[in-house]
Order: sequence, then structure tokens, then C-alpha cells
Amino acid sequence: MRVSQKVALVTGAADGIGAATAELLAEHGAAVVIGDIDDRGGTEVRDRILAAGGKAVFVHADISRPAEAASLASAAETSFGRLDILVNNAATFVLMGIDATPEDWHRSLDVNVIGTALVTHAAVQVMRRSGGGAIVNLASISSFVAQPQFVTYSATKAAILQMTRNLALDLASDGIRVNCVCPGTILTRASRDHMGRVGMSLADFIAAEAPKHLLNRVGTPREVAHAILFLASDDASFITGTHLMVDGGYTAV
Ligand SMILES: NC(=O)c1ccc[n+]([C@@H]2O[C@H](COP(=O)([O-])OP(=O)(O)OC[C@H]3O[C@@H](n4cnc5c(N)ncnc54)[C@H](O)[C@@H]3O)[C@@H](O)[C@H]2O)c1
Repeated sequence: MRVSQKVALVTGAADGIGAATAELLAEHGAAVVIGDIDDRGGTEVRDRILAAGGKAVFVHADISRPAEAASLASAAETSFGRLDILVNNAATFVLMGIDATPEDWHRSLDVNVIGTALVTHAAVQVMRRSGGGAIVNLASISSFVAQPQFVTYSATKAAILQMTRNLALDLASDGIRVNCVCPGTILTRASRDHMGRVGMSLADFIAAEAPKHLLNRVGTPREVAHAILFLASDDASFITGTHLMVDGGYTAV
């Protein structure tokens, strides 16, 4: 994959899909800015990349805070001189139904939609100075299908899907491609937290989730990272404004 010599910013890269993506981009030669609110996880990912001979910096940033969101793109320019790739991965998981309060809605929208928009705005300024770029957003099967008691989360993932198309249109003339990946169920801290909330064991969770995917299993963060790497790379140079399902066939039938 052609990302060698490129500079990438991955939000929410302290764990899960974001961490796997940061490490895979670094393995393929990109310098990586790791943005997250989790300092311990973020510095661990940074140290693993450095130990493997890659280039990385960690920046503490809550993407729902405008100044912190903007600081991520600045860090890319300060540390590595440019920005070519943005992976909008950070998200909060407010899994609520009709009884969600205004505060629940704000928590979900402020991070997943507005935070993503804030990071993207700052990143685009640096990408323009760098001569173009590629943005990969994390949408979801939840952008397409209804799941019980998920409306506060699914609404944000549907928004990300449409933001991908709108921004692909608006940024094409800047040489910036915008795409998204739509994972099925992936085993991460977020899914483990969900199991904890609903009182499910790992075995029960997998038994419930695996059959929803044609491949009869859940996915790994690394499998999503490979799809992100492709869309971020020059190998996807004629692909913009679209989504790639990484869902083991969940939405095929
Ligand atoms: N796990 C799944 O099954 C699944 C499925 C479809 C889509 N996704 C999407 O993939 C992305 C990553 O999910 P994951 O499962 O790896 O989650 P995760 O919880 O393992 O990782 C998310 C990371 O985002 C960080 N984060 C949360 N709020 C933040 C904020 N305000 N500012 C900066 N960082 C913040 C967390 O600290 C964490 O490191 C999300 O966008 C999610 O919606 C996940």
C-alpha cells in the first residue's frame, strides 16, 4: 500500500480499531499522530510504533473541544511538516433508545458528529498546504440497519456516512478524497464495555453476534485497519465519496 513518506492523523488511536490503524499505517511507512483522551493507551501505541522503528507522536485531545480538536492537525504539521491522511475514528458509544435525555444526545453528537467535523476542518487547512490528502471516516453497519436501543449512536453513524459524501463533493477540487468504512461487530474495548453494561459474557456476546455475519464470526480491529489503509493509500486514488462495508456480510442479506 502506498503510504510510505506520508503523514497520518488517527483520532481515538489509543485502543481498538484506531490503535490497529495507527500501527498498520506506521508499518507501511507513514508517520502517525495518535490523538486520544486516553493518555496511557495513546503513549503505549506510540511506544510500540517507535520500538518497531516507525515514527509517531501522541497528542492528548478531546475532539469535542474545538481547541483540542484543532491541535491535532497542528501537531502533524509541527512534528512532521505536513498532513496527508486523516482517519476520523474516535467515537463515544451512547447506546440509548427513545428515553435518551438531551444530555445523552449532546454527549453522542458532540463527539461523534461535531468533534469529527472540528478535527476535519483543521486537518483540511493543513492538507491544502500539503497539496491534497485522503480522509477515512468510521461509519458503521449502524449507518444502515436498525439495532435495538441504539438510536443515539446510529444517528451519529448515519450522519458520518452522509458527511463523507458531502465532504467528498466539497473537497474534490482540493485533491482531497473522502471515504468511510462501515464495520460489522468488531471485538474492542467498546464491545467489551457494552457486554459489561448488558451483563453478557464474552462467549454469550459472540454467540449472539457471530451468526448475524455471513462469515459467522465477529471481526478484528486489524481487519478494519486493512480496509482503512487501502482507502487512505494512493492505491485508492480514483475512489471518493463512497463507503466500504467491512462487516463479514452482515448487510448483504
Ligand atoms: N467495535 C465495533 O463493533 C464497531 C463497529 C462499527 C463501527 N465502529 C466504529 O469504529 C470506531 C472505533 O471503535 P472501537 O470499537 O475501536 O472503539 P474503542 O472504544 O475501542 O476506541 C475508541 C477510542 O476513541 C477514544 N475516544 C473516545 N472519545 C473521545 C474523544 N472525545 N476524543 C478523543 N478520543 C476519544 C477512546 O479513548 C478510545 O481510545 C468508532 O468510530 C466506532 O463507531 C466500531
